[in-house]
Amino acid sequence: MNIMILVGSADVKSHSLGLGKAIEEKLKELGAETTLINLVEYGLPLYNRSIERENSHDDITRRFLDTSLEMDAFVWVTPIYHNSYSAMLKNALDWHHSTKFPGKVLGLASNGGNRSPQAVDQLMLVARSQHMLVSTTRVCTDESDYDSDLNLSDEDMKIRVKNFADELLTLTNKVLSEN
Ligand SMILES: Cc1cc2nc3c(=O)[nH]c(=O)nc-3n(C[C@H](O)[C@H](O)[C@H](O)COP(=O)(O)O)c2cc1C
Repeated sequence: MNIMILVGSADVKSHSLGLGKAIEEKLKELGAETTLINLVEYGLPLYNRSIERENSHDDITRRFLDTSLEMDAFVWVTPIYHNSYSAMLKNALDWHHSTKFPGKVLGLASNGGNRSPQAVDQLMLVARSQHMLVSTTRVCTDESDYDSDLNLSDEDMKIRVKNFADELLTLTNKVLSEN
C-alpha cells in the first residue's frame, strides 16, 4: 500500500513536518510504503490552468502528478494560517485537479491555533470536491506538543497518531479489497 504525505508548511523545518514524520513512522511500522513531500522544498510552480489544459507541465509537476497517481491513500498536513490551511498545500491540491482521486482514502492533520480543528474541517470540503473518503480520526497539534527539534513529543498525541494510522490503513484496506 502506497501513501503520500503532503506537508504544507512554508517553513523548511516545521512542526507540520515533525507531525508528517511521526505519521509516516507509524504508517511504516504498520507495513505501508510512504512518500513524504515537504512542499516548501519540492518546488511545485503556482497552479496554472493553461499548463494543465495544454498538458505542458514542467518536470517537477509531472513527477508530482505521476507519483500521486501511484498512491492508494493520502495524508494532508497543514499549519494553521489565517484560520485556515496553507496556500502551499492548496496549490499542490489544485494541481491534483487534473487527476482527482475518487474513492481514495484521506487522512487530515494540522498544527497551530491551540490545536484548532479549523484547517482540517475546511480541508474536508476540499476533499469532497476531489471525491475522497476522509478518515474520521484527525490529528490537530500545537507547538506545545513538540520538543525543541520539532519532533512530536506529547504522549497523548503520539497515541492519537497511532489511532490515526490504524484507521487510515483499515479504511484503505477495505477500499482496496472491494476494488
Ligand atoms: C501566514 C501565517 C498565518 C498564521 N495564522 C494563524 C492563525 O490564524 N491562527 C493561529 O493560531 N496561528 C496562526 N499562525 C501561526 C502558526 O499556526 C504557527 O506558527 C504554527 O506553529 C506554524 O506551523 P509550522 O511550524 O508547521 O509551520 C500563522 C502563521 C503564519 C506564518
